[in-house]
Amino acid sequence: PRVVYFTRHGESEYNAMGRMGGDSPLTPHGDAYAHALEQFFKGERVQDLRVWSSQKIRAVQTAKGLKGIAAHVEYWKALDELDAGICEGLTYADIENRYPKQTEDRKKDKYHYRFPSGESYEDVVARLEPVIMELERQGNVLVVSHQAVLRCILAYFTDRTMSEVPYIDVPLHTLIKLVPRAYSCHLTFYTFDV
Ligand code: F6P
Repeated sequence: PRVVYFTRHGESEYNAMGRMGGDSPLTPHGDAYAHALEQFFKGERVQDLRVWSSQKIRAVQTAKGLKGIAAHVEYWKALDELDAGICEGLTYADIENRYPKQTEDRKKDKYHYRFPSGESYEDVVARLEPVIMELERQGNVLVVSHQAVLRCILAYFTDRTMSEVPYIDVPLHTLIKLVPRAYSCHLTFYTFDV
């Protein structure tokens, strides 16, 4: 049976500082994860593996080592992280201080809340439609993307409700393996201790 793997990029400098979004590179810790991922896929010997990465530096760096292993590596803008608009680069504490009303609105309805000059989870789901359609048609794929985006994709495969989507647990340094079954999907989580 075919397999679809999902992972967030390795820890980025912004992750380490608790900042939203941005386009920062991996930390040494994140680099170690990228290396562990490469070793894992060397061992797995997945046939005709296609890697789809976002275009953000942290994802590109995470996928880099897979170039020699995968049949293809592609970079999809549609896999870039939810655009936090005016809140990009801020910490949650910064946002709460600067924009208390925004924080409150987001808490009330995180799925539909759209950052000023940015996106909502609902917007991300819309732009992911072509990716999901392609995922349905393809063979073995590894998706290297981001927390909010992976929440949306996983929600699709596991039939979650809209209100659940923004809270699905997608930890860093964890590879998620999805094996589609007739009426359901089987998920396995691999945590890499790096
Ligand atoms: O903190 C990592 C991150 O991927 C940010 O880049 C992004 O803005 C955020 O998570 C999305 O998570 P949430 O929707 O829970 O704020």
